[in-house]
Amino acid sequence: MKILVTGGAGFIGSAVVRLAIARGHQVVNLDALTYAACLDNVASVADSPSYAFEHADIRDASALGAIFDRHQPDAVMHLAAESHVDRSIDGPGAFIDTNVTGTYTLLEATRSFWEAQGKPAQFRFHHISTDEVYGTLKDEGQFTEDTPYAPNSPYAASKASSDHLVRAWGETYQLPFVITNCSNNYGPFHFPEKLIPVVILNALAGKDIPVYGKGLNVRDWLYVEDHADALLTVLEQSENGRTYNIGGENEARNIDLVESICAILDRLRPSDRPYSSLISYVQDRPGHDYRYAIDPTRLREELGWRPSVTLQQGLEKTVQWYLANPDWWQALQARDGVGTRLGTSKGT
Ligand SMILES: NC(=O)c1ccc[n+]([C@@H]2O[C@H](COP(=O)([O-])OP(=O)(O)OC[C@H]3O[C@@H](n4cnc5c(N)ncnc54)[C@H](O)[C@@H]3O)[C@@H](O)[C@H]2O)c1
Repeated sequence: MKILVTGGAGFIGSAVVRLAIARGHQVVNLDALTYAACLDNVASVADSPSYAFEHADIRDASALGAIFDRHQPDAVMHLAAESHVDRSIDGPGAFIDTNVTGTYTLLEATRSFWEAQGKPAQFRFHHISTDEVYGTLKDEGQFTEDTPYAPNSPYAASKASSDHLVRAWGETYQLPFVITNCSNNYGPFHFPEKLIPVVILNALAGKDIPVYGKGLNVRDWLYVEDHADALLTVLEQSENGRTYNIGGENEARNIDLVESICAILDRLRPSDRPYSSLISYVQDRPGHDYRYAIDPTRLREELGWRPSVTLQQGLEKTVQWYLANPDWWQALQARDGVGTRLGTSKGT
């Protein structure tokens, strides 16, 4: 299959690009190369005859039209987005522009191409979204595909909006689509402003490890390479119009997650005192959702997909990867906003 992947120079998109090529697909990676992108993430496949890169913005309709004409994809996997909740609190406009207007522009370019091709039924627009569209849970229960949307952050609201656009394009124009909503990802090539890399890199630098609030928020962690595998499974097998929740079945409180990472580092890179002594509780994020948990039953029963690693195994692989790849993360730490506390201002 020839797949147009948007956001393929980002964290999850690059895992999708690498795995899709390993599975024998052809990939066109379309990315605007924002602050969150890194082409080194796809260096291992950049010379493959199955790989092409297009430097373009999903809000640029004419660039999109030319890319569709040039590459004639069989499917779109749409991952390009502004993705950091804290940045969405400080500057929501960019999230509306890219995640809502950008998705609309991409949908229209896709529809135009698909209609010109004679509306092939096997075509897919695969929209990659988040469990944050469902809002927050208390101590019990899990999100299913039927949970009503109740997004709480500007990021989550922009992703919810984009999910609705994709569904509407499917209903109104019959554009074949599938939507997946997944839990928090972690793993190699995770941009150094997100929680798990921050913990690893601050610990290695001997800096305070910031934990929001009391560290009691719960997330359901998914190893990024498992997510990429789930996404390709859905793309290859799903019926038109289906939605799937993707989760790692790995719930953890933030403080327990941070303690686990510190314990792995104590073993792999011993210091003169336990890394957990660096933990520092900081002001909570405004509107911080308490708990996310995914019920992945539909994906398991319909497509037979399960995560391959536990959280402990995935964290071990992740810490080893960061220890082995300082050149990758040191270059990104110099980028705008990385290493500073973001997302404390309410809507400024
Ligand atoms: N990271 C997670 O835990 C998580 C969980 C669930 C869903 N998601 C979703 O998965 C997708 C990928 O997330 P990620 O963590 O890899 O994000 P990321 O921030 O690491 O990567 C986003 C990529 O999109 C590109 N991009 C941004 N704006 C663009 C534009 N206007 N045109 C073209 N390219 C643009 C960036 O350059 C970057 O390469 C997002 O849609 C996100 O909402 C992420």
